[in-house]
Amino acid sequence: MRTLSPTSYLISALALALAVCVAALQANVPSSAIIVAKDDSGNFTTLQAAVNSVKQPNTNEVIIYVKAGIYTEQVSIKSNFINIRITNNLDAKTWQVQNPVSTGASAESGTVKVRGDFFKVFDITFDFIWGQGRAIFQNSEFHVGRRPNGSTGNGYVTANGNNGASHKASWFLMLDSSISADRGMNALLGRAWGSIAAGTWQGV
Ligand SMILES: *[C@@H]1O[C@H](CO)[C@@H](O)[C@H](O)[C@H]1NC(C)=O
Ligand SMILES: *[C@@H]1O[C@H](CO)[C@@H](O)[C@H](O)[C@H]1NC(C)=O
Repeated sequence: MRTLSPTSYLISALALALAVCVAALQANVPSSAIIVAKDDSGNFTTLQAAVNSVKQPNTNEVIIYVKAGIYTEQVSIKSNFINIRITNNLDAKTWQVQNPVSTGASAESGTVKVRGDFFKVFDITFDFIWGQGRAIFQNSEFHVGRRPNGSTGNGYVTANGNNGASHKASWFLMLDSSISADRGMNALLGRAWGSIAAGTWQGV
């Protein structure tokens, strides 16, 4: 999955339907990359610690390589030009961020909250796509899964926000991807959040 945002957006874990994005891109790890590994074999054991280590203001792209594993943390990315990607991991599903926070306002419950510009991410799994800003999701796999408590019912795969007054342009583009759902789950592709929210599905 790749996201780009010249303004700001949030990728949030709302307790609605779970929309999981997985992509299978491959990239090389440059020697300057910051390595995150749960087993302490890298520079940091959490993604947040790696993000925090990037000096601000940052004008060069920084690559954070995350080794496979399930990371239970809430990640807040405020920096610009951060490039997070996962490599050497053909099974992208083994890399996942899980949110320890399941309640609260949408902006607080996000698993990975991105407020910096030019954020890109490859090959990771998120659980809901919500926010204001511009983002492209390409070569991704969207999946509407059952809720942890097993309940079915309507949900939303994405929720773009744009109210015009405070955000000049905000949209999500889902490109060249696939979508599936667990049996019994129903989901709408988008939930408009604000008066001029936009979501476009192309080649999905
Ligand atoms: C299951 O969780 C959803 C939120 O994810 C909630 O709306 C629903 O009421 C819950 N159902 C039960 C039976 O607890
Ligand atoms: C990460 O750890 C490696 C190995 O100890 C080290 O060579 C490298 O400088 C570290 N990178 C950063 C950005 O701290």
